[in-house]
Amino acid sequence: MPPDIAILDAAPALDQARLKLDRLWARGTAFLGSRVAIMGGAMSWVSERHLVSAISNAGGFGVIACGAMGPALLAAEIAATQALTQRPFGVNLITMHPQLDELVQVCLRAGVTHIVLAGGIPPGPAVRAVKDGGAKLICFAPALVLARRLVKSGADALVIEGSEAGGHIGPVSLTVLAQEILPHLRDVPVFVAGGLGRGEAILSYLEMGAAGAQLGTRFAASTDSIAHANFKKAFMRANARDALPSVQLDVRFPVIPVRGLVNEGTRRFLEVQAETLRRFQAGEVTKEAAQLEIEHFWAGALRRAVIDGDVENGSVMAGQSVGMVTRAQSIAEIIEELTEQAVLAIADRAG
Ligand SMILES: Cc1cc2nc3c(=O)[nH]c(=O)nc-3n(C[C@H](O)[C@H](O)[C@H](O)COP(=O)(O)O)c2cc1C
Repeated sequence: MPPDIAILDAAPALDQARLKLDRLWARGTAFLGSRVAIMGGAMSWVSERHLVSAISNAGGFGVIACGAMGPALLAAEIAATQALTQRPFGVNLITMHPQLDELVQVCLRAGVTHIVLAGGIPPGPAVRAVKDGGAKLICFAPALVLARRLVKSGADALVIEGSEAGGHIGPVSLTVLAQEILPHLRDVPVFVAGGLGRGEAILSYLEMGAAGAQLGTRFAASTDSIAHANFKKAFMRANARDALPSVQLDVRFPVIPVRGLVNEGTRRFLEVQAETLRRFQAGEVTKEAAQLEIEHFWAGALRRAVIDGDVENGSVMAGQSVGMVTRAQSIAEIIEELTEQAVLAIADRAG
């Protein structure tokens, strides 16, 4: 068959495949109010007005990372994002934030439709405030029992994030979390995250019952991201094996696991832990002081890498999917590519 006829022949098959993909993630798109069920995971310093609006304008669902912002800064960021997109987007709030209740009110006053509560089991008053305010509540579920508890306490959707992800991580991979949770939890839409870089992988989780996917690493390196050029270059150079969790030297001094690119900072962190441990054992510092010294090591380090471009001493948080970041692409290109990979995989199977 001449190639032009072959293309004509393939067109209906591709249309069918697109319809099938639309059906597979219909629950996710209906929940988010987006064209495709792909969320941009909130990334502190990275997920601001430009990236978030680019993701929503491209048909996905952007999420502002509130991080350590106070109420006034968050209100300004939401307003600036609303000026850049008419499409829905969410706001991610960290449950440990001392002004959590005020931040929820800021979101509600601004008409934010989806609030993500991250960083631990969300406190009851914040959950009630989100629900009473009419916003949809999204929570992270690290295991099936907790997933069920979160749904019972009011979560309208869940994200299950595997240890392949960039940033703060749990111990279990998405491959296992998905098998543990997706077949058993159908009450609310569940979005999968961690290590996703291609549409075929997203498709396989949709087929297992996921409502959609959340990506961070690929979006952080996009041309729409405000991250420093050094940060994006580091992503393009890195392989999956370069994105490792932070190492804890001694059980008495817990280190929250964070996945990022190995650099001078991660090497020095080991030395600082070893030296602090030695001083503690020699009775030169108390346990509390030693723990604080270890915790303070990374203070401001993500900003140093993302904004200042110090990728040697800063914290270059990245998921294992960093190996799939190979060139500079816009958010629209990435979302189109992911969608087409899923569509082609469906069409391929149909022959
Ligand atoms: C640089 C960076 C910063 C992140 N910061 C946050 C954050 O502030 N809050 C949060 O809930 N998740 C954070 N994450 C996780 C992402 O929202 C997302 O779930 C994760 O990146 C998905 O895995 P992937 O990186 O393999 O795509 C961060 C990830 C990266 C790469």
